[in-house]
Amino acid sequence: MRDDARERVATAALTPALFACSDIHIRLGGRSILEGVSVGIQAGEILGIVGPNGAGKTTLFEVLSGRYTPDRGRVLIGGRDVTSLRLHARARLGLGRTYQSPVVPDALTVGETLRAARQAFAPYLTRFHAEWAAEKVALRVPMSQLAGSLETLNRRKLLLACLLMRRPRVLLLDEPAAGLINAEIDELDSIIRHFAHEMNIGVMLVEHRLELLSAIADRVVVLDLGRLIAEGDPATVFEDPRVRAAYFDTEAA
Ligand SMILES: Nc1ncnc2c1ncn2[C@@H]1O[C@H](COP(=O)(O)OP(=O)(O)OP(=O)(O)O)[C@@H](O)[C@H]1O
Ligand SMILES: [Mg+2]
Repeated sequence: MRDDARERVATAALTPALFACSDIHIRLGGRSILEGVSVGIQAGEILGIVGPNGAGKTTLFEVLSGRYTPDRGRVLIGGRDVTSLRLHARARLGLGRTYQSPVVPDALTVGETLRAARQAFAPYLTRFHAEWAAEKVALRVPMSQLAGSLETLNRRKLLLACLLMRRPRVLLLDEPAAGLINAEIDELDSIIRHFAHEMNIGVMLVEHRLELLSAIADRVVVLDLGRLIAEGDPATVFEDPRVRAAYFDTEAA
């Protein structure tokens, strides 16, 4: 592990979590989907969440963001119990999330999308905030371009810029690298690093490519069949025999 990452993890162990859930259980469609999952994240930390398809990663994000209410367990933002708060109330406390598919409004331009986002959440924000957010994510397209005509990376950047205007403290990013080529993934990585290390945002990142997480995550957790089976620094976790059995065997299948 790099020295700066080691220091962040050591500091994290001594600091109450910025965002956490404990002992989350949820059943959907008559099946148990998450069983006893607890994770926490600090400001400025990048936490990778991995696991085979269907492990429950997106469901965990639904619970963390407030779209699903768990049958058991608690979600905490800054130590405050937000389990009964809905998505928009959690957003006001600093939680932002993106989805696996980067869905943007087809009929709006990039500029109109940014304006709609800032007016919906914080009407006092000006277009300068939108320009600032676009710059932060290196969104370099004409404001007059239709959002629906953007390539995948620029769609993801636009959605991130919309979130950034809210000054989030925590971002949940569900497979942000899906559909990107390697050079684009490198660019996205440096944006995510900037969020964590320069803006002090806690980032939870679902990602299948372990080499990508090894490069940017301070810590990873592994979900398998709705249970958390490993947690720690990426190099150690990805060598864990239980992780290799759950993850690599499935990947190879
Ligand atoms: N609303 C729902 N009703 C019933 N079952 C659901 C529901 N949502 C998810 N599931 C099931 O829960 C399990 C976990 O799904 P989830 O989407 O959380 O997995 P994932 O780890 O995000 O997978 P992937 O890597 O494919 O995105 C799957 O078996 C899925 O079919
Ligand atoms: Mg998923």
